[in-house]
Amino acid sequence: MKTLLSVLLFGILLLPLPSISQTRDKASAVSSANQEPNPKKEEAAELRACAQMVLGGFLQVSNMRDQRFEGKVAEPTARCRGGQYAVQFRTTPWVDWSRYWGAGDSSSLPTGFLSVKGAQLRGVTGALLDLEYQRVELIKFNLFDNSGTYQTYISGSGGVNGPAVKTWPEMRLPKDNPYYLAVGGDKEQVCKGDLIRARTLTGICNDVRNPLMGSAGMPFARNVEFETTFPDVGQTALTQNRHGGRIGLLTPDPQVISRKLFTRLQSNPASCNAGFGLPDNSLDANCDYQKAPFFNVLAAYWIQFMTHDWFSHMDEGHNAPGGYMEVGCRNKLVNNVQTSLTPDEIQKLGCRPGDEVDKTYVLSDSPPGQFTSGGRAYLTRAPKTFANNNTAWWDASQLYGYDETSLKRVKHDPQDPAKMLLELVPGKSGPGYLPILLPTDPVQPQWNGQESVAFPDNWSIGLSFLHNLFAREHNSFVDEFRRQTAQNPNADSGLRNPSDPKRVIRNKDVTPDELFNVARLVVAAEIAKIHTIEWTPQLLYNEPLYKGTNANWNGFLGPDDPDVPKALSDVMAHGLATSKNGKKETQWYSVFTSGPGIFGLGSTVSHYDITNPNDVNGGINLFGSPFNFPEEFVTVYRLHPLVPDLIEYRDVSKDPNQIVEKVPVVQTFEGKATDAMRSRGLANWGLSMGRQRLGLLTLHNDPQFLQNIRLPRLDTPTQQIDVAALDLIRDREHGVPRFNEFRRQYGLRQLTSYDDFVDETLPADSPARRQQMETVAQIREIYGTHICDSSKIITDAQRNPDGTPINDCLGHPNGSIVDNIEDVDTVVGWLGENTRPHGFAISETQFVVFILNASRRLYSDRFFTSSFRPEFYTQLGVDWVTHNGPGPQMMEEGEPNGHRQPVSPLKRVLMRNIPELTTELQHVVNAFDPWARDRGQYYSLGWKPRPDAVSDPAFKP
Ligand code: HEM
Repeated sequence: MKTLLSVLLFGILLLPLPSISQTRDKASAVSSANQEPNPKKEEAAELRACAQMVLGGFLQVSNMRDQRFEGKVAEPTARCRGGQYAVQFRTTPWVDWSRYWGAGDSSSLPTGFLSVKGAQLRGVTGALLDLEYQRVELIKFNLFDNSGTYQTYISGSGGVNGPAVKTWPEMRLPKDNPYYLAVGGDKEQVCKGDLIRARTLTGICNDVRNPLMGSAGMPFARNVEFETTFPDVGQTALTQNRHGGRIGLLTPDPQVISRKLFTRLQSNPASCNAGFGLPDNSLDANCDYQKAPFFNVLAAYWIQFMTHDWFSHMDEGHNAPGGYMEVGCRNKLVNNVQTSLTPDEIQKLGCRPGDEVDKTYVLSDSPPGQFTSGGRAYLTRAPKTFANNNTAWWDASQLYGYDETSLKRVKHDPQDPAKMLLELVPGKSGPGYLPILLPTDPVQPQWNGQESVAFPDNWSIGLSFLHNLFAREHNSFVDEFRRQTAQNPNADSGLRNPSDPKRVIRNKDVTPDELFNVARLVVAAEIAKIHTIEWTPQLLYNEPLYKGTNANWNGFLGPDDPDVPKALSDVMAHGLATSKNGKKETQWYSVFTSGPGIFGLGSTVSHYDITNPNDVNGGINLFGSPFNFPEEFVTVYRLHPLVPDLIEYRDVSKDPNQIVEKVPVVQTFEGKATDAMRSRGLANWGLSMGRQRLGLLTLHNDPQFLQNIRLPRLDTPTQQIDVAALDLIRDREHGVPRFNEFRRQYGLRQLTSYDDFVDETLPADSPARRQQMETVAQIREIYGTHICDSSKIITDAQRNPDGTPINDCLGHPNGSIVDNIEDVDTVVGWLGENTRPHGFAISETQFVVFILNASRRLYSDRFFTSSFRPEFYTQLGVDWVTHNGPGPQMMEEGEPNGHRQPVSPLKRVLMRNIPELTTELQHVVNAFDPWARDRGQYYSLGWKPRPDAVSDPAFKP
């Protein structure tokens, strides 16, 4: 117990340990402009601050929505964890932890002092503590289910506090579900037998006591108060005051915003040709884009691949039938009045007033119910809801299907039905490629010629690559299982059938169907692991996030002392998770699970019984709100700027350092992706996407081809659509609050003017800062200003630092001219954030949405928690996921960024299934870091080639 406590204190509470303190070797750390830095004085001041911080005790988790942490700490805390540099920018709206010691590259580490480690530990653990506070608050304040359970969440049920409720009538299978009787009909519904053995097609029975949860067709949830959704409708006085009638579906004009704020600026527009490149993939083509030096194009397509697993507003590649709507290119703001664009202006902007698009599907738009609790009135759901037509589970449904229609496109190998069907392609070696869709398959005209997969929409070269790769991985697992079976036919596979739990299922007894389902479980878990510990730490390339993301998977306590994580995992599953006290549930569960990690929670309980729902389901935690993604999650995944216009194509069999063609991405769209994949091969596309940098998520960086794309499915005059503009329109259709209220709702500090978008940590005369100020001027031109009225309160989600309500003047004098910062679209806002933690390819606003939902995606899924067991995965499956493939764990050479770590899971998948890439990947630590980049020292973002790639033109200035 003593060990447990001390580990808890170290690993979970993350006490910032006072140590000999140092001074950052950074100009901005100088305490005042005219003073030379004095390391001794700063060191003493930091130590005093640490003592003051510790004496002040731990920050209390707020009970009030409008008194949240906001990622801002008290001055002594900032000083203790990051010295003067952290104190200096506390007044900005942006989170403080990014300026702590060790949270950046080596310049964030003190130099020339006795010990770097003490300050680094204070900084990094302090950052993790701040992030944990945010997660605890997010779980407490940001869960709004749209499927009818919200009243229970607020008012509780049967003497149980809302956040501790674990089953809901709304999550029962309805009478018309084919499995209605199998789960118990109109009695208590509990999934059992075949329904709990593997991931089901439609996603039912993941939670055995809430069969419907997360299944295809359930409503998207929300992370924001229902009253703040659909701000253009102005449901409350607060919303009306916030926007003053200035916003609508097409106001400000989405195409004008796209052309002015999203378009990539070109040094030579002719060589880009509006994103369409030059004939014959000419090397003379060039489309400028802002590049992230630490993230590659494979990472861009990875996240498109993920979103196709998690959610879809569309159904079989289309939106709601019955009518198209205009999409702007009509108006601009002149002297704060919307004024029609002239033909000249339209031509100059390059937008298209004739474009139209199909409307989004609506699940329900009947007026929501109302209830009161504790003297406060609530809505039971948002005024409109929309269905997630995918399963919300991380179940690889883009590969394996999510309904009967999509399932028909998933082809088994007739020779071995446990395998996915792969065909040999003339001239290509290796295990083959996915088959092409047949006319007899369910197929939309725009998918003709594409690979046959469950989710074929917006097909791209990256999706083709990843679908083929994981189909091969599925088969690799089956091959290994068959190999082991041939060697040891009578060995216990580990698998069990809950209908006959005592029967040992030997390797040779496992049926092709069972093996197919096991391989699906394994592939889905591998994907989740790659995403959590490989993609995410490269997206958020710094030490706190490396530790944080690994903790989500393995726990802070790591594998060194397996007994401690096991003990904690049991406490979580059978202690806190079964508590009836909502406060315990929400506040402590999240904190304590940082210890053992989320993955495998509850899977190690003694005497595990596959027929006992408490064991099978015991590791999940829903925090009182059924799991589904919220609309706000979709918003922050509108990541189209990641995609370049041209792919720098390379040939692995020749010289990988040479770019041999510039292939327009639009020539690798839909069926052309399949042609390109089959003619050129997985290895070449892997090499090309692995080496190229993706686009930064920032303004002026949307691909031009996406602004001009032709979608033949659109029955409209132009058949063209500006996808960047559509990103804004869809958010407005789905009622996502605008950026400033979005931040407040998530517990982030509001902005008070467009100028807050400028990164104050940059020197005043730097070109980057000047550029940002120009962009701010453009934002002001589009969204405008107004004379403020301090009598109008605009939100109840946050208060001014002095405790007063926030009004229309946002701290400026009554009657002054203020920016319409409240109207800025959420996508524009998060793209416009220039102040970001080191190595963040996304903004802090997007990140906070991920903190909540990425954790929930793991917490809610029993196959990642208490059902991660041989009874479901087989012993080979459990080992494969744990070790990143067959055989024992392989360790990476050296200690990248100071960490001894296993060879990363995607690198293993790539080497296993595309062996032609083995040499290229030898020096790669993270498959999402541009492959030829020299990673340099501690979280360097430098763009330098590794020694054998100096001739690669991508590194030329
Ligand atoms: C060649 C690359 C891509 C093309 C051609 C493309 C095209 C599209 C199109 C046409 C839509 C549908 C808009 C609508 O009617 O609502 C869409 C939606 C979307 N795209 Fe992309 N996209 C690409 C890459 C990406 C990437 C890399 C991401 C990264 C996550 C992404 C994320 C999304 C999201 C989140 C939606 C909204 C889906 C929904 O509402 O359910 N896309 N994309």
